[in-house]
Parts: sequence; structure tokens; C-alpha cells
Amino acid sequence: MSERPLVLPFDPAGIVLDQHRGLSQQLYQALRARVLDGRLSSGTRLPATRDLAGMLSLSRNSVVRAYDQLYAEGYIESRVGDGTYVTQLPKLSTQLSTGLSHGLSTDLSTFLDKSTEDLSSFGRSSEPLERLKNNYLPSPKVGPPRAFRVGVPAFDLFPFEVWAKLQAGFWRNPDPAQLGYGDPAGEPLLRELIAAYLRRSRGMSCTAGQIVITSGAQEAISLCAQLLMQPGDEVAVENPGYRAAGQAFAVAGGRVRGVPVDDEGLDCTRLADLTDCRLAYVTPAHQYPTGVTMSLARRLALLAWAERQDGWIIEDDYDGEYRYSGAPLAPLAALDRHGRVLYVGTFGKIAFPALRMGYLVLPQRLVEAFSQGRALAVRHSEVGTQCVMAQFIAQGHFQRHIRRMRRAALSRRNVLKAGWPQGVAGLGAMPQVSAGLHVKVAVDNLARESELVASAEAVGVEVNPLSRYWLEDSDVPMDNRAGLVLGFAAVPEAQIADALMRLRRAWR
Ligand SMILES: Cc1ncc(COP(=O)(O)O)c(C=O)c1O
Repeated sequence: MSERPLVLPFDPAGIVLDQHRGLSQQLYQALRARVLDGRLSSGTRLPATRDLAGMLSLSRNSVVRAYDQLYAEGYIESRVGDGTYVTQLPKLSTQLSTGLSHGLSTDLSTFLDKSTEDLSSFGRSSEPLERLKNNYLPSPKVGPPRAFRVGVPAFDLFPFEVWAKLQAGFWRNPDPAQLGYGDPAGEPLLRELIAAYLRRSRGMSCTAGQIVITSGAQEAISLCAQLLMQPGDEVAVENPGYRAAGQAFAVAGGRVRGVPVDDEGLDCTRLADLTDCRLAYVTPAHQYPTGVTMSLARRLALLAWAERQDGWIIEDDYDGEYRYSGAPLAPLAALDRHGRVLYVGTFGKIAFPALRMGYLVLPQRLVEAFSQGRALAVRHSEVGTQCVMAQFIAQGHFQRHIRRMRRAALSRRNVLKAGWPQGVAGLGAMPQVSAGLHVKVAVDNLARESELVASAEAVGVEVNPLSRYWLEDSDVPMDNRAGLVLGFAAVPEAQIADALMRLRRAWR
């Protein structure tokens, strides 16, 4: 025998209306928000219009108009001779919250439930459009790659003939089952293969069921921003760091707090200053942009922090395939025993960014909500490309390509190291580079940084100022933010050598 759900009587407490704005519209919004977030459960009997008007000191007409709108949109129904009831609605929002909040203390449900009236308490300047305007993301450099573009791998080595054959194979005779709507979490075979790859290469014990395919790492980070925090929450990010991640949190309403990075990675002791923070974004394998690898002690300290705070860690392993010396440390996701880490990966640094393919490895209890979040935003990623990537991996091309790319990046790094200009005023030596696709070089002060960048640009060489990677309100003196960031993998060795020759002349 099925149990009848408990239906509480209607309670008007908390419905506060502003006498200077349209009252029926406000009442309609307040009731609708309560239906959607479950405060008014299906089957609740609403008061008669005259009674509700009395309770809220409104004209009966205002209540009738609000009810009419709710009827028209299907939130309430009338039963002849018996009154007005909340309709039985599909359980979208409650699924998201019950799947996560029962004893698991994520605030996902609270954020999804927040009604527009509640959000207005953040004031105009924190409206999404305003936040977007204040977090303008400059587009990455466009055009063909040149030395020393950051963030792009060796395009010249990608096996386009293989890719084209796999694409043609998929489209020649597509399976009709793959032409309708797909799984919001991604194509099952691709998820299987990614999970197997991460088990083998990163020591993670993940399953396909924990993988959600995204449109690159950036969408994975944005999804985390939308689903793991509420507007007004503090979010810890590395400073200097990957600005586009901080901006995704800021646009979602987060108060972004920079945490210093030293030669062991994020300084976890500084997290104690952030009392309101339950979310941290880090790049432990190869800190962006300083290149530091987070020590094991710091990894454990960060995990312990997340556990204490009942919080989350986003681990962005954007270039983890590139390691040239020393054994890689286990990712946070492999050390995590309490389901606190969301691991982000991308194919952008092994294949190419334009592919827009990445993935999240999620604690099991978040998978359903993230799939729902994706389904609502984009339904799912394009199926053809996912299937082609699955074949690319299954047939061994991916592993072969990783080996080729690692060898090439190492060789290009060596050319940069060998030809790096010596004795240039205010410019540091080339440090050891044991991972990744870029390197940070010290510069004495900000004025010198600008001069070096400008004179490199004048001879057609791209070098990036480190000062651009800091949050504006850092407490670090301006001159201590200076440096150069160079990507060394984008172009072949001869072009690197040529660019170095031009730099030596320009910086003499
Ligand atoms: C640290 C970091 N994370 C993520 C990304 C973005 O990756 P994707 O192109 O997959 O969105 C980048 C790109 O440069 C990056 O540097």
C-alpha cells in the first residue's frame, strides 16, 4: 500500500508584498516560487480568494488575478465545489534537491530553489548581467599559433587523416539510435574509455557513471559555479591563477578570494581566513600560470579543509598529460576518500581547443544533478564528435598521440631552454620545467615587464605578462606580480629558435 504524502496546510507567513509594485504579480510570483521549491506541496489546499485577501490585506481582485495566472500556467487547479489546490507537478526541483541534500549537506538545492525575490536582496550591481559586464573575459589570442602562445598544444602533429576517416565512418551510415537525443552525461562508450584511461594513467578509481562530458574544461568549471555555490558565497582560487575560472564563479555571484601560491602550491593555511568558503578551485598538477606542482602535504591539507568545511574542491588537471621528469603525484581525486573532489579534464591540450571537449569526474552523489544541469543548458554534447573521440581512443590513436605530443613538447621545451636570452636586465633565468606546456620566468618589476612584452611584440613574438593573472584586489605589491609566461609547445622547434633569436636582439 503506498503512503500518502503529508500535505501541510497553507501558511501565508513570509509572503511580504511591496505596496508600491503590482500586487497581483508579486503574489503570483511568491506562490509560484513556493510551488516550485516544494514549500507548497502538491495537494495543498489554497485559501479562498476572499480569505487570502484578508490575510494579506489585499483587494480580492488582486488575489483572483494571481490565481488566474497560476491556473493558466498549470500550477494550481480547482476542484468543483471543493476549492483550489496545488497541482501534482513533475518532480524536477525536488529530484535535484532530494538526490543531494539528504544527509549529504550540499547546498545545491538551496541555490536552485532561490526565488527571484530572494536574489533581489543582492542589489542591482549583483544581477547576472551586471556581474557579466564586470567580468569581461578577453578572448584568447586568435590566428595561427606563433611562439610563445600560451594554452595551445602542437596542432601540427594532430593526425587529421585518422580523425577525418573516423568522422567519415561515423557519418557514412549513422545508427538511427544516435540521431535523436543523447545522454546528457555523454556517450556511454566515451565515458567508459575516459574512466579506463584515468584509472590507468592517474590511478583514479572512477567508473563511467561518474563521468560527465562537457564542452571543454571551461564549461565544467561553469557548471560547478552554477551548481555548487550560492550567490554571496566565498570561493577560494589560486592567486595568480586561471582568471577565466575566477570569472565563472564571480558571474555566478561568488565572492572570489585569491589565495597565495608558493613553491608547494596553494597556501592552505590561508584558507582559515575565509570563514564563509566551501569551494576551492586549484590546478595541483601544474599550477596555472606559475608551473608549481602542489606537494603531497598540501594536497592532504586541502582535502582535510574540504572535509572540515563540508566543502568541495575543483581539481583542474588541464595539462596533466605532459610530465617530463619525476613521478606524477596522485591527483586529489585519487586521494579523496570522502567524495569532496570534482576532477576536470580537457582534450583541448592534447588534441586542440576548438574541439570543445572536456569532462568532469564527479563524486557519485553529484552525477544526477550535473547531468540535469547540462540537460537544461544544452541537452548534451554533439553525439558525432563524442563517438569519433571514442573510436580515436578505442583504436589506440589517443595513447599514441599523447606519447607523440609529450615527446614534441619536451623537445620544444629544450630548444627554449637552450636559447633563452642570458644577461638581459631585469629578466630571470629559465627555470626547470618538469610538466605542462608553459613556463613562468621572473622579471624584476612591472615597468620592466611592460617593456619586455612590448619589445617582443614589436618583433612578432608573443610573451604574456604575469601581472595579468593576478586578481585586482590582491594584497601583493604590484612589482611582485611581474613576470613572463611563455607557452613552448605551439610551434615547431625551428620557429622557436627563430623567435628566440629575435628576442635576443630585441631585448639586448
Ligand atoms: C588552467 C586552465 N584550465 C582550463 C582551461 C580551458 O580549457 P578548455 O579549452 O578545455 O575549456 C585552460 C586553457 O588554457 C587553462 O589554462
